[in-house]
Amino acid sequence: MNEHDSERMLALLEGCGYRETKHVEEADVMLVNTCTVREKPEQKAYSMVGRFQQLKEDNPHAIIGITGCVAQQEGERLLGRIPALDFVLGPGKIHKLPEILRDAEKGKRGTCSVGFENGCPTNLPTPHTAQLRAYVTIMQGCDNFCSYCIVPTVRGRERSRPSAAILAEIETLIRQGTKEITLLGQNVNSYAKHTPGELTFPQLLAKIDEIPGLERIRFTTSHPKDLTEETIEAFGYVEHLCEHLHLPFQAGSNAVLERMNRGHTREEYLAQIKKVREVSPQMGITADVMVGFPAEEEEDFDQTLELIRRVEFDGLFSFKYSPRPGTRAARWKGECTPEVKQRRLEILQGLQRGITLKKNKELEGSVKEILVEGRSRNSPHTMRGRTRCNRIVNFPGGSDLVGALVFVKIAKGLQNSLRGERCG
Ligand code: 5AD
Ligand code: SF4
Repeated sequence: MNEHDSERMLALLEGCGYRETKHVEEADVMLVNTCTVREKPEQKAYSMVGRFQQLKEDNPHAIIGITGCVAQQEGERLLGRIPALDFVLGPGKIHKLPEILRDAEKGKRGTCSVGFENGCPTNLPTPHTAQLRAYVTIMQGCDNFCSYCIVPTVRGRERSRPSAAILAEIETLIRQGTKEITLLGQNVNSYAKHTPGELTFPQLLAKIDEIPGLERIRFTTSHPKDLTEETIEAFGYVEHLCEHLHLPFQAGSNAVLERMNRGHTREEYLAQIKKVREVSPQMGITADVMVGFPAEEEEDFDQTLELIRRVEFDGLFSFKYSPRPGTRAARWKGECTPEVKQRRLEILQGLQRGITLKKNKELEGSVKEILVEGRSRNSPHTMRGRTRCNRIVNFPGGSDLVGALVFVKIAKGLQNSLRGERCG
């Protein structure tokens, strides 16, 4: 979501006559698009602003802005705390960037634009440059209030974008060369829940599937309590929908899930996975999980490990819990020590590494459809792409293949990728 916001801001900056530079020392505008979902990215953002502040000493006309969720969370306070800062812009006000920038160019400093407008903006700026794989926002915000999560505070309540605007944006992207889209939302399964008469999420998938020229559809993020049977069934008949589901479970213990206010049990989660695999046995399943939630005991953590062993995820995004300002969990006692969190994270990641490698090795000898994305990082004669279930594959080939769908026979399953030979 945050990356996509950065792309949208880049498009707006280009519209104002700015060009992207890879060298921050020569930049006239420096934006730090921040994330506050955990403590670490927030700290990273502050240290980056500190670095930009120093650069401004050599280029006093440079404009510095903080955007994203830290901007929404801290607002005006940031202007008081960081003297070199020219403006603060929340994620719900991205469309105001050109106006704020024009003011800043004229020397008007200290603007703070945060908060949310009613509804989801229909027309969001899209990147000007062709993108093989593009994100398309379908809904914003979240109504769930998981007890650890700051997202509903900094991204606002759920609001869905009209399907006509979504379909029109995808058509534009395809005309510019896009082959794969990822539908984005904090909780895509709740698409249009509050909009009577609008398409449901699976109906939207089926409509997108009909757009000529689109090769692949993905979506993220799903919530186990809102993932409906109709959506799971869509994996069986929506031709271009890739066999990849990101379904966060956060914890394997019912006691912890309850305190997290997730609205589902481990048994319900496992039942969802079973249904998904019945419809699509090849499904690549990934998830988010946290360790060290307040009062998480060893037995709770064991339940998380047991769930991971049971499901055998294709990949996991695992995090140490960090208290976020204003959330309910931040007020709770029983915070695990940093050592406990670190140890649990290492055990969990070690377990998952073994599972990922085993699953990658199981693919040796199979033939997979790959969308070729570009050259491999390590060798100029090797191309890199992704399977429908989202695994990275490297294979010998030339850059004329970029954007093509090719078949590759998998020769080797490695820890983070697969290696193969083209066979069609
Ligand atoms: N601490 C650690 N991880 C968190 N996440 C959300 N809030 C927190 C927090 N307070 C994780 C969840 C979520 C992912 C985007 O970030 O796993 O799915
Ligand atoms: Fe945060 Fe829960 Fe909403 Fe996900 S579903 S964004 S974890 S509140």
